[in-house]
Amino acid sequence: MPARLLKRFKSRRMTLPPESDCARDTSGTSAPDRNRCWYIKPMLDFWQSLLAALERIAMLPSLIQSVLPTLPSRKRVRDAVRTYDRSMDDLLREIQRLLEAPLDPAKLLQMSGKLHDEFAPKLQASDICMLPSYNDKLPTGREQGTYLALDVGGSTFRVAVVELNGHKPGAKSMRIVNMKSYKIDNSVRYLRGTAFFDWMAEKIEAAITDPQVKTNGTQSFSMGLAWSFPVEQTSIHSGNLLAMGKGFRATEGTLGQDLCELIMAPCRKRNLPVSLDSIVNDSSATLLSRAYEDPATRFAVILGTGFNIAVHLPTSTLAASKYKGYPKKWLDEANHVLVNTELSMFGKNVWPLTRWDEQLLAGHVRPDFQPFEHMISGRYLGEIVRLIIVEAVKTAGLFSGDIPDKLNEPYALDTGTLAAMEMDGSKNFTNAIALFQSKHPLSKPPTYNDIHFVCQISQLVSHRAAAFLAAGIHALWMLRTEAEGLTPATAERLAIGCNGSVIEKYPLFRELCQSHLDELTTASGAEPKSISLEIAVESAIFGAAVAACCLES
Ligand code: BGC
Repeated sequence: MPARLLKRFKSRRMTLPPESDCARDTSGTSAPDRNRCWYIKPMLDFWQSLLAALERIAMLPSLIQSVLPTLPSRKRVRDAVRTYDRSMDDLLREIQRLLEAPLDPAKLLQMSGKLHDEFAPKLQASDICMLPSYNDKLPTGREQGTYLALDVGGSTFRVAVVELNGHKPGAKSMRIVNMKSYKIDNSVRYLRGTAFFDWMAEKIEAAITDPQVKTNGTQSFSMGLAWSFPVEQTSIHSGNLLAMGKGFRATEGTLGQDLCELIMAPCRKRNLPVSLDSIVNDSSATLLSRAYEDPATRFAVILGTGFNIAVHLPTSTLAASKYKGYPKKWLDEANHVLVNTELSMFGKNVWPLTRWDEQLLAGHVRPDFQPFEHMISGRYLGEIVRLIIVEAVKTAGLFSGDIPDKLNEPYALDTGTLAAMEMDGSKNFTNAIALFQSKHPLSKPPTYNDIHFVCQISQLVSHRAAAFLAAGIHALWMLRTEAEGLTPATAERLAIGCNGSVIEKYPLFRELCQSHLDELTTASGAEPKSISLEIAVESAIFGAAVAACCLES
């Protein structure tokens, strides 16, 4: 059993009560929940027939309503006698069983093994995953300079002046001197082709001409770009644009074109004093930035809206055809290479799917594109919980059988809302109830039990995600260990840089993942604690600068 933390996690969850008298279903066909004890229905039936009789006699329903103002309205009576297929406890038990079933170590190891089998063909040939970069060495941590770092994420574009100070005494090794953040909403996300890159150039101009942005008298900027999408690199500063997920349309008419030129052309048109010197995927940027501070770093995980892992591998792990067009000098000198695995695209036949996962995929525009991301990323955790909630409302009377505002709409439930609700430490869930009610109002505010149920589901869904992530990391760790000619027992301790809202901020997510990882690595024969997950703050921005800086050293 994973360590203390897992136990703590498990014990904070409600232990399901044994079936109560109220919940016991005497007919054997339906099990009313504990709010609907045996006496409620006859009582309400009584009121309903009394009302109907009075209406029939008097033929003046409105008068009756005014004479008997306390009499339950027909709607209220109807709502109160709604019956459901099952009790909430019964449904919760099923959800728990389905979501926790795949989490025992033997099953996770099996999944890791299957993922590992998927790697081999993609290391041989694939244009969209296991993508090598031109970064062969990791930074020493002594590199210095000032750079303009660009970070194109799923929902923000950030432009920052970044200072790298090496090990200069008294100075932070990396510092954001100034940063401008521009929201990428749907109006930007849907910009087609070059229009998106024009928008980027406009924002770069706005950032570098902003009087608040201290440029230290810099005349021209060397830029590094962290790109949170796949790119087929053709040099350290160029790469062919590959299909973008996350709802972007910038590839329409530009697919396969050079990303550097797409960005630089509108910058030149605006006479901006910038040159794009380095392009890296955001996962590789995270690895570079963390390695700048901790030389034991060999992997990086990004887990926010999107998901990915970068890994530093011996060059020979990838087939020679993956290095088409690389200069001979690079091929002669490099013994390792930073690889963007695009791990989100793996695992189609690995993950056991529940009916809610299947519903999610049935409504997805590209259900086969990123199967791993669908199970664990911030874009989908809220949606899986939403699908469970909708079922619980309809079949078990969650929220008294009413769908909260907007919760019928796909992707309306934000993973951040669930994280904030889970963080509510108050005894009565006061904050969580208020938060949920503010985001998804109900005419009758949610009860403690409703919100407790939602929190329990989101804990189960996020716990499963943390365990699946551990299986993915384990599979890549096995790949790297073998590629280095080591065994789990002889593999050196290594660090993994972690960035992204889910892994950084979702309550207990990283701890749970670490726990499962410890369990899997020791089961494979490694020393305990041979991998540690470490937060890499602002790593895409810092990594973009480190990548640009590494060119000069
Ligand atoms: C993209 C990756 C990216 C990751 C994290 C995924 O959806 O395909 O390229 O690294 O999200 O941002």
